[in-house]
Amino acid sequence: MTTSSNNSATALAHTNIALIKYWGKKNADLIIPYTGSLSLTLDQFYTKTQVSFDRQLEQDTLLINEQAVTDKSWQRVHDFLNLVRQQSGITENARVISDNHVPTAAGLASSASAFAALAAAASKASGMDLNERDLSRLARRGSGSACRSIYGGFVEWQRGSDDTDSYAVPIENPNLKDIRIVALTIETHQKPISSRQGMERSVTTSPYYPTWVKVVESDLKEIKSAISQNDFAKFGAISEFNAMRMHALTLSANPDFLYFNGMTLDAMNEVKRLRHAGVECYYTVDAGPNVKVICQTKNVDTIANTFSKILGPEKVTVAKPGPGIKYL
Ligand code: PMV
Repeated sequence: MTTSSNNSATALAHTNIALIKYWGKKNADLIIPYTGSLSLTLDQFYTKTQVSFDRQLEQDTLLINEQAVTDKSWQRVHDFLNLVRQQSGITENARVISDNHVPTAAGLASSASAFAALAAAASKASGMDLNERDLSRLARRGSGSACRSIYGGFVEWQRGSDDTDSYAVPIENPNLKDIRIVALTIETHQKPISSRQGMERSVTTSPYYPTWVKVVESDLKEIKSAISQNDFAKFGAISEFNAMRMHALTLSANPDFLYFNGMTLDAMNEVKRLRHAGVECYYTVDAGPNVKVICQTKNVDTIANTFSKILGPEKVTVAKPGPGIKYL
């Protein structure tokens, strides 16, 4: 019989920012995307999660940042644990204790680091000894972007066509090592349209969706060549274009929707102004109003100071490339 300590594991995963976005599921149950995507794992933002399977528990319990959670986040975690129980053959309920280390309202989604850490801790606690590829496949089932947080640095999610071949891989021998992301917190409220709903509406109603699938293919190819050639200008330009192409899908959906607010546009204009003034930087925006500025070490202070003056220093966080999954 296994002791309870063998049924417990703790993992730490960092969040990631997509430079080539994942926006649309071909298979919503298995979370198979229509396109590949590419991200950078960030050092500043992470989730630490402990999972303990315990036969004494009457149901799964979830504590996030010391608060008991019983709403739809609990349901999502419970569904994910069912998957782990099904794969491992374990039957016990689990106690999940999770801490999100995302600076108060950094405005970064935590689902990527949350499900990557949960996949690692739960699979280990259940007795499965998954390799990184299988861990990436498992994390994908919790939240698509989580499959990329298994690895550090630049990571590509290869879309694949079914559960076996849709997973993330690290970009081998990347250049562009002195990249920095300045995360701007514009709004901390939960987004009115979740990425899940937004993707579905874009796929089913935007007339431009088939074109998105085509352009992502070439954007991915181009950004990978920029990474290997250490071509920051090309890297930044493709990231910025790709983000705007994703947001064009929301504007062209029916009914249309928009993740930006007025301050998002102001921040994007400020990035362009800095760029024209010779401070090279680019922006990307996810499914919310917050802006992330992509730059290199040489300009990071100027950019962080500029936005600290506009938004206040507490709204500006500088991140570097971060590591992959760790067991504690
Ligand atoms: O993993 P999800 O379901 O939270 O979707 C993430 C969607 C974007 O952040 C907008 C893009 C991406 O590739 O991370």
